[in-house]
Amino acid sequence: MTEIRGRAAVVTGGGSGIGKGMALALVEQGASVAIADIIYENAQAVAAEINAAGGKAFPVHVDVCERDSIRKMKAEAEAALGPISLVLANAGATNFDTLHEIRDSEADWIIQVNLMGVLQTLQAFLPDMIARGEGGHVVGTASIAGFLPTTVPIHTVYAAAKMGIVGLMMNLSCELEEHRIGSTVYPPGGVIGNMKAGNERYRPARFGGPGTGEVFVPAASFANHKVGKNDLLPIEAGRMVCRGIRNNRLIVVDHSYQRQLWEEDYASHVRQAYDDIAEYEREHGAPEKVLWDTTGAESR
Ligand SMILES: NC(=O)c1ccc[n+]([C@@H]2O[C@H](COP(=O)([O-])OP(=O)(O)OC[C@H]3O[C@@H](n4cnc5c(N)ncnc54)[C@H](O)[C@@H]3O)[C@@H](O)[C@H]2O)c1
Repeated sequence: MTEIRGRAAVVTGGGSGIGKGMALALVEQGASVAIADIIYENAQAVAAEINAAGGKAFPVHVDVCERDSIRKMKAEAEAALGPISLVLANAGATNFDTLHEIRDSEADWIIQVNLMGVLQTLQAFLPDMIARGEGGHVVGTASIAGFLPTTVPIHTVYAAAKMGIVGLMMNLSCELEEHRIGSTVYPPGGVIGNMKAGNERYRPARFGGPGTGEVFVPAASFANHKVGKNDLLPIEAGRMVCRGIRNNRLIVVDHSYQRQLWEEDYASHVRQAYDDIAEYEREHGAPEKVLWDTTGAESR
């Protein structure tokens, strides 16, 4: 159980969509929040809305692709709100090019902003959180395209980055347990956000710079995706994530009807993979195994 009330939080990508919903939900539950975003005026607008309603928020500029920018964000946010012990690494950007057509700079950006953005944000905050010994919680926003990569076609680089976040947050929970810091991966399965119109604006200069158009979703992706064409309000997503923080959940999901999709998708992969290995063993006999030598301590 992680108490949210009285803690200081940071939400990256807090200027829009899910990040704004997370920030509003955290404030609802008694936290103060640094709204961190590459579009500073959006961070300012969200912080102003929260402060006008009686909450406590502080806007910060950050580009999560850059470690220096993240360190600066941390320093500014903590100068304004005090030590931060709830970190919601949520900033992201999308792309629907095929792997054989995507530009190198675009692929680099999508991995950097989504996967490295979460990893670098957590690296910046965790050492101080651990040193203070006051517990806390970290959240990484992935995507259903990371957990169930075949459900949203033509999304390879994004799916790779988002599945990376799944592995990061789930493995991280093992090393943070002794420090009473929880780790949650949140793979949204359809929430109202501004990526369709906003995404091109999020591209930093070193990956080609901002554009103005909308995200192009190829018909083969849009028509064949299996997730469902309906979206939640961001505040609902924010409240679900806060509930996951309080209950120290490893995974938070947001659409109850997607349960069957998950179960069937995983079941079909497990069935096929283990039917194949059973067939292999019938053809070749059980493979020979060498037992680990466990006499040496901490050996690899
Ligand atoms: N909305 C959905 O249904 C959905 C589904 C799956 C995953 N997601 C993930 O949820 C997160 C939020 O998406 P959203 O739908 O709210 O989109 P959004 O476009 O409304 O919000 C994304 C925010 O991230 C910020 N951002 C982008 N690059 C940044 C950078 N380099 N540094 C700092 N901030 C940056 C943007 O300025 C924006 O405020 C993303 O990680 C996205 O991949 C959303």
